[in-house]
Amino acid sequence: MRRVEKAALSGAAVLIAIGSAALVTATSHEGITIPSWMTKLWPAAARPATRGGGTAISGGRRIFEQKGCVACHSTDGTPNVGPTLKGLYGSTVEFEDGSTRTADTTFLEEFIRDPRKRTIKGVRAIMPRTELTDEELRQLIAYLQSLS
Ligand code: HEC
Repeated sequence: MRRVEKAALSGAAVLIAIGSAALVTATSHEGITIPSWMTKLWPAAARPATRGGGTAISGGRRIFEQKGCVACHSTDGTPNVGPTLKGLYGSTVEFEDGSTRTADTTFLEEFIRDPRKRTIKGVRAIMPRTELTDEELRQLIAYLQSLS
């Protein structure tokens, strides 16, 4: 339930899917499927360049690698030491005490700044605290948003 694929629900994505399904159904009758290359490209494509999103996202990806997040977190759904961060943004996070919270920008800022503050249900609480500037954190979160 936490890893709801939202790409497929986006109106624009559906329009594109219908467009490409028309091409697909010209040769097959397998129904509407969104090609995997499209769901991979979609998050970045969904962010208009005028908001500077592309720059923040690619910066965030670099920081994700440089700061070692990549050692514990996959971005493609594969489990690792830590939970995958694919689809995290906008999903519901459940804590050990049973409370829940939407993984929005504020939650991500707080959690990444101080992973010890909240204990996430069902995972070992071993994420280290990482020193990040406000700008690094902003770009990291832009990158995490792009994975949803
Ligand atoms: C040593 C392994 C490790 C490293 C390095 C690490 N994490 Fe984590 N991370 C975890 C684990 C394990 C959890 C599960 C909760 C906990 O440990 O408190 C987690 C949880 C998270 C969550 C919440 C995930 C969810 O499903 O609710 C986010 C967001 C996150 N990490 C981001 C990052 C970012 C960004 C970095 C780099 C600055 C990073 N992590 C570095 C292990 C790691």
